[in-house]
Amino acid sequence: MAIRDIVLMGDPVLRTEAEEVTSFDDALRKLVDDMFETMYHAEGIGLAAPQIGISRRVMVIDLRREDEPEARLALVNPRVVWAGSDRDKQAEGCLSIPGIEEVVERPWEVTVEGLDPAGRPVTVEADELFARALQHEIDHLDGILFLDRISPLKRRMALKKWKKLQDGEVG
Ligand code: NI
Repeated sequence: MAIRDIVLMGDPVLRTEAEEVTSFDDALRKLVDDMFETMYHAEGIGLAAPQIGISRRVMVIDLRREDEPEARLALVNPRVVWAGSDRDKQAEGCLSIPGIEEVVERPWEVTVEGLDPAGRPVTVEADELFARALQHEIDHLDGILFLDRISPLKRRMALKKWKKLQDGEVG
């Protein structure tokens, strides 16, 4: 396993629609292992392959709690197949946009279908933070960042703060 570099907002790979995975081989398993290790090292709860510069539809999440032991998983080619009508607003961050947090409104509950790293079909029914993390990571596979899901005014302010952080002017 290896810790990979996390790419930051501004890298075009984060704006590219990632490719479907078709081979469920050792290379895929190695990628998944590296993604978990990179995510744990960065103290994140989710990571998508484009965030380490790999434009493939692979994501990992780990937010296990006592009441949700299944919430550690790697998903390949995941898609949201159902979203509830209740919406939820919570602060979100992203390992590719460190230092920026914004409240994002998303469906509170989703069903996601995908494959595990061995190519077996998986269905995940999730709510609350688990649902939010799944949606955030699947967005990455479509080249979408959470800042795309806030108001233009808030986005402008967040981008300004991000630029300052990148220039080393604050924090
Ligand atoms: Ni992210």
